[in-house]
Amino acid sequence: MLLVACGETEQKAGETSKAATSEVADAKPMALMMRAIYEQSNAMRGKVEAGEALDSSFYRFLEFHQLEPTDSTVLVEVFYQHNEDFKKAFEDLLKASNKESYNAMLTQCVSCHEDFCPGPIKRINKLRFQES
Ligand code: HEC
Repeated sequence: MLLVACGETEQKAGETSKAATSEVADAKPMALMMRAIYEQSNAMRGKVEAGEALDSSFYRFLEFHQLEPTDSTVLVEVFYQHNEDFKKAFEDLLKASNKESYNAMLTQCVSCHEDFCPGPIKRINKLRFQES
């Protein structure tokens, strides 16, 4: 199942949304890359949970900031700054491969999303490890 885009609202099981369906068909390159980033983050979570190293040749930073977004007004300086902060957190995670650095990476996802794309924040936070 694909939930779509920045204004995403909770959708009940079995319900279909015409808006969502057409957005899936028209998804812009940045949105598609974001879905891949979400899937990769999910896969990395499993590795971190199992205490395994993250192979940096397998988990790559997925360049999205030069791809066409749904809404081109996001491409302002703050966006690129968030991208840099996220990249740094991603690289720290590859080295450390622990729950703290995984959560720190997600904090950077959310930080950009708060400014530019609030819809997926709930989903992103579901990936988080509970702090103990
Ligand atoms: C520098 C800003 C930024 C960072 C960092 C960022 N995102 Fe995004 N994300 C966006 C923007 C902007 C969009 C909307 C893209 C579009 O519609 O073209 C988006 C869209 C998404 C979507 C919805 C894609 C769809 O189906 O339409 C998901 C899910 C998502 N991001 C997850 C993540 C996750 C997980 C991370 C961190 C691992 C992350 N994002 C990091 C800015 C960011």
